[in-house]
Amino acid sequence: MMLTVENIDVFYGAIHAIKGISFQVDEGEIVALIGANGAGKSTTLKTVSGIMHPRNGKITFLGEDITRTDGYKLPAKGLAQVPEGRRIFLQMTVMENLEMGAYIHKKVPQSDFDNVFEHFPRLKERRSQIAGTLSGGEQQMLAMGRALMSHPKLLMLDEPSMGLAPILVEEIFKIIQEFHAAGTTILLVEQNAEMALQIADRAYVLESGAIALSGTGAELAASDEIKKAYLGG
Ligand SMILES: Nc1ncnc2c1ncn2[C@@H]1O[C@H](COP(=O)(O)OP(=O)(O)O)[C@@H](O)[C@H]1O
Ligand SMILES: [Mg+2]
Repeated sequence: MMLTVENIDVFYGAIHAIKGISFQVDEGEIVALIGANGAGKSTTLKTVSGIMHPRNGKITFLGEDITRTDGYKLPAKGLAQVPEGRRIFLQMTVMENLEMGAYIHKKVPQSDFDNVFEHFPRLKERRSQIAGTLSGGEQQMLAMGRALMSHPKLLMLDEPSMGLAPILVEEIFKIIQEFHAAGTTILLVEQNAEMALQIADRAYVLESGAIALSGTGAELAASDEIKKAYLGG
């Protein structure tokens, strides 16, 4: 297994946000975590990426116990996250934002930029533009491109489709599949269950901080329970 999360409990003060969650991601998979707003999806990703730490339980990445590892050390180990709401540097240019994603290198090789621009030709055209002036979809692309700069083995994306027009959602999902085809393992958090289940090998459904259901993407997409709760009937 590339990533193993075992029975983690995560708190915000007295709020017990994650209640004994366990899941796994195998090398080469696309795994989705779906669930309603407030179910605990972002908290789960923040805990895997070391921004928060669980009170109990264990997280293992590529055989190493990272349960208490500080988040800033994880990109160098091959774990990158695209946080909810993009979090790019709005006053910096596209190029400067990409450089920030590559902080493990001293001098960023041109090939790293070229690799990002291959996936996102639109960013290439706008490479000198201030990030705050990009559209929402372009900002999402920049956040994804920045994560690619650290050459992740496992890329975690928190609601990449949030707030985007349907045509851009399609484009973002196509690019996620391109990353995957190029050898990156994907852990995808989405409220857009329909899109996420279409591309996921496996998925877990979070409800109130616990895993309510799991299965292959196709199994869950066909489940009556999922259709009723997440796919609009
Ligand atoms: N900073 C915070 N302080 C207190 N409670 C929080 C905080 N962030 C999230 N929560 C609570 O934790 C639960 C899970 O939130 P979150 O992981 O953001 O859910 P999701 O990403 O699935 O929408 C919710 O009940 C939310 O209100
Ligand atoms: Mg969230």
